[in-house]
This record gives sequence, structure tokens and C-alpha cells, in this order.
Amino acid sequence: MGRHGLKKIPSGCHGGGCGVCKIRILSGCYRVGKMNRDVISPKEIEDGFALACKTIAEGDLEIAVVGRMRKFYRERL
Ligand code: FES
Repeated sequence: MGRHGLKKIPSGCHGGGCGVCKIRILSGCYRVGKMNRDVISPKEIEDGFALACKTIAEGDLEIAVVGRMRKFYRERL
């Protein structure tokens, strides 16, 4: 999204470490890279949460922003 100028998801480290970009994937296929377990638990991953910077979409995704800046973005979307 960042490469295409879409900035609806907050980002920080871009390396799976800070958790600012946490999203919940509501539908669609995807895979994820290595993510810091201090900012996303195995249970969250099982429940469809992911870090956007480590998520690779394999088609259209429906997502919700749930990271630390959720309130900020919810008020502006
Ligand atoms: S931007 Fe830091 S974990 Fe994604």
C-alpha cells in the first residue's frame, strides 16, 4: 500500500517489531513473515491478526486497523 501512496495503515519500523501496523484480516488469503511476539501473540495470529508490514496479500483482503493508532485513523476514515 505504501508503494502505491495509500497511507491508511499507520507504520513505524517496517520490520515486524513495533506493532503500530497491526491489522485484523477479515477476509482473503495472505501469508506473513516473521513478527515480534511481544507485539502480536500466537492467539492473535490464530484469530486473524497480523502486522501489515509483514503481510503479503495473495488476493483482495478486507482488513481493519487495530494498531496503536486505531482511534486516530478511525476518526479520519
Ligand atoms: S511497522 Fe512496525 S511492526 Fe509493522
